[in-house]
Amino acid sequence: MNRRKVLTWSAAGLGTAIAVPAGGFGILYSTYRTDTFDDVDFDNELTVPPLAESTVKNGVRHFELDIQTGTTAFKPGGKTDTWGVNGSYLGPTVRLRRGEDASFSVRNHLDEDTTVHWHGAHLPAAVDGGPHQSIAPGDTWEAEWTADQNAATLWYHPHPHGRTARHVYRGLAGMLLIDDDISDALPLPHRYGIDDVPLIVQDRTFSSDNQFEEDSSFMNTSGIMGDEILVNGTYGPYFSVTTKKARLRLLNASNSRVYNFGFSDDRSFQLIATDGGLRSKPLPTERIALSPGERAEIIVDFKEDETVDLRSFPAELGYGFPFQRFNGMDDRFDILRFKAADSLDDSPELPATLVDMPDLNADNPTTTREFDLHGMNQINNKTMDMQRIDFGVRVDTTEVWTVRNRVPFLHNFHVHDVQFQVIDVDGAAPPEHLRGWKDTIALEPDLPYRLAMRFTDYTDPDLPYMYHCHILRHEDMGMMGQFVVLGDNEDVGTVPMN
Ligand code: C2O
Ligand code: CU
Ligand code: CU
Repeated sequence: MNRRKVLTWSAAGLGTAIAVPAGGFGILYSTYRTDTFDDVDFDNELTVPPLAESTVKNGVRHFELDIQTGTTAFKPGGKTDTWGVNGSYLGPTVRLRRGEDASFSVRNHLDEDTTVHWHGAHLPAAVDGGPHQSIAPGDTWEAEWTADQNAATLWYHPHPHGRTARHVYRGLAGMLLIDDDISDALPLPHRYGIDDVPLIVQDRTFSSDNQFEEDSSFMNTSGIMGDEILVNGTYGPYFSVTTKKARLRLLNASNSRVYNFGFSDDRSFQLIATDGGLRSKPLPTERIALSPGERAEIIVDFKEDETVDLRSFPAELGYGFPFQRFNGMDDRFDILRFKAADSLDDSPELPATLVDMPDLNADNPTTTREFDLHGMNQINNKTMDMQRIDFGVRVDTTEVWTVRNRVPFLHNFHVHDVQFQVIDVDGAAPPEHLRGWKDTIALEPDLPYRLAMRFTDYTDPDLPYMYHCHILRHEDMGMMGQFVVLGDNEDVGTVPMN
């Protein structure tokens, strides 16, 4: 920063003053917007991540995951240095049935520590893959757990303390799909890669020699934001539609960007599932916004011979001037082109109802807690400390957490181990798209979100689960806390030194 006169402002609790050269602000503001509508050549066929291979021994389904470096050809002009799982970029889709025991051998071929966290999964803290399950270079981490939750679109990604943003940005992420009998019995599109398609959406900026830019503008409080889109690691992708309906499993696997998904002709589609699984009934909508870490399953109708694009529109999350702009929420992107064949296979009619949704709030929550997100790295005025357990929750009880973003720029909130329900937002019933199982939620500034959740098992007084902002830079800076699930007569213990 130069020493000339600067224009500064600091937002409430921002902690860091943002400074730009006087006169530069207007220019910076007006140029700080990315718009790729009608500007993407959709000439690469969408890659569908392969299903992870597995072997079943003694009733346990076993996967081998190799975390490695590589190079990937995304676009003309040279290969990009990337990281991947069993490949050079991203990882295979891990698929499990509810009730199934799964084991994983995760080998770290990087030259630094990493972890693999199963985002959205209900499992013991010891196998959660958070910052305490560090895998040293050359080591193999063995994790075994039972798929014990509703059919859902989950994902996996590294979670090393302070370095998650870089590991995910370089390409370490993959889908984790849970199936169950209830969802299998519904007339929903089920054919993987044909009418049931995972879409891992990420933004990247390429340097002139085709490497991922890892720096971010200092005006942007959220960290890396790219000006181009990859879907499943495909640059400028198109998908060939062969059925009248398709189920799209959208995952925002970007470090810091919010997408407001919709179609180029503003067609309506049906939201059928949120982070933790199917909704009680489909919700017709024209837009679905996802912040980093969130997922949505949607059903889209296609007509023969048509072309339509999935896009991201400016986000409407209540962020005002100037952070709406600096957090990329004024941006517009062409994401993925759908090209429908001239004859399409029939698809089943979408059922009017999907699954039963219990009301957790009716369970008489025994404990309420408050979480205030301040600055870029604090929850309740504390920064993450690997050795500090912030609190213990009692097993088999329902808790209600009130979460608030106290600053005018973007935060979201993610809780490990559970899927929660949004009881209300600022005292009012939540918007329809938030009625469903969630593990990550975007926070409009200042509004209290009341979340109900139930910790049903896997007690461990010493090994914590995480809660944190899923803007990966904020998570890395320490906007994260730790809790343990306690048995009936247990007290909060001590985190083992790693
Ligand atoms: Cu997807 Cu704790 O993270
Ligand atoms: Cu998680
Ligand atoms: Cu944040």
